[in-house]
Amino acid sequence: MSTAFTGVFQRGFGTFPLRSEKLKSAVRTAAEIGYRAFDTAQWYGNEADLGAVLPELGIDRTLLQITTKVHPHNMSADKFMPSVEKSLRDLKTEQVDVLLLHWPPNDNPVEPSLTLLQDAYEKGYAKHIGVSNYTTAMMRAAVRCLDAKLVINQIEFHPLLNQDKVLATAAEVGIRLGSYCSIARGEIFKYPVLGEIGEGHGKSAAQVALRWILQKGVALNTMSTKRANMQANFDVMDFVLSSSEMQKIDVLTTADYRISNAETVPFAPVWD
Ligand SMILES: NC(=O)c1ccc[n+]([C@@H]2O[C@H](COP(=O)([O-])OP(=O)(O)OC[C@H]3O[C@@H](n4cnc5c(N)ncnc54)[C@H](OP(=O)(O)O)[C@@H]3O)[C@@H](O)[C@H]2O)c1
Repeated sequence: MSTAFTGVFQRGFGTFPLRSEKLKSAVRTAAEIGYRAFDTAQWYGNEADLGAVLPELGIDRTLLQITTKVHPHNMSADKFMPSVEKSLRDLKTEQVDVLLLHWPPNDNPVEPSLTLLQDAYEKGYAKHIGVSNYTTAMMRAAVRCLDAKLVINQIEFHPLLNQDKVLATAAEVGIRLGSYCSIARGEIFKYPVLGEIGEGHGKSAAQVALRWILQKGVALNTMSTKRANMQANFDVMDFVLSSSEMQKIDVLTTADYRISNAETVPFAPVWD
């Protein structure tokens, strides 16, 4: 059995924006391919759909990693625990594997919501806890105020965005990074160098982008509704990018293409 975000759990299957039968069908296919880590959130409105399909997979619960995230509107003392209890009921589980704070609180200190997260961990509602969309300053504040370890900071991470500062701070404070928008929702396909590098390995541009993320030490979270894409996103462990190939991809980060910014998400902090 793998611990959080190691082994097969390094390749997670994201569920946003899937719901109902579309979600169930995608999760069944992903599980057939071999995915064992599934990522949802209170915000996605699909925890109950995921909770309904998981028992049908015929996979022992201990072999799955289920991550959910607390909605920013549920981070007050009165709403936090009831919201987590509802997530557990919807997901039909007594404990999620990973519970994250989905976004940092706007213009407020991070400590109160982190303390509530730790309370949920101490109650046994989560095997591991973590955060999402935390800046370097927030990660530092988090490790100062918590006794429990944060296993992950899930952030936008792909070849078109330079996240070196966040990577360096994460390594310094001992928090792993996890990716979202790993192929920048298709934007990476505008950069032929990824496909050119892929040709030498018999891999696609998407697989090269995902391998670059893994070789940065970042766990993957990808989403697709198509079996072929799900399979491709999973088949990224059997080749290695050379350091010169990694550097060629590093150059693309100057594009500074960010999907989650203040215009698209009201909770987005001032990024590093
Ligand atoms: N923590 C956060 O704030 C946050 C924010 C955003 C997302 N997330 C999580 O991260 C997951 C992934 O992010 P995302 O879905 O926004 O972005 P993404 O993985 O960059 O892009 C997903 C899109 O790319 C397509 N795609 C996937 N694999 C492909 C491949 N191999 N070749 C070509 N196209 C491919 C999919 O379309 P097809 O269905 O046609 O394959 C889908 O429309 C979400 O599901 C969610 O769980 C978290």
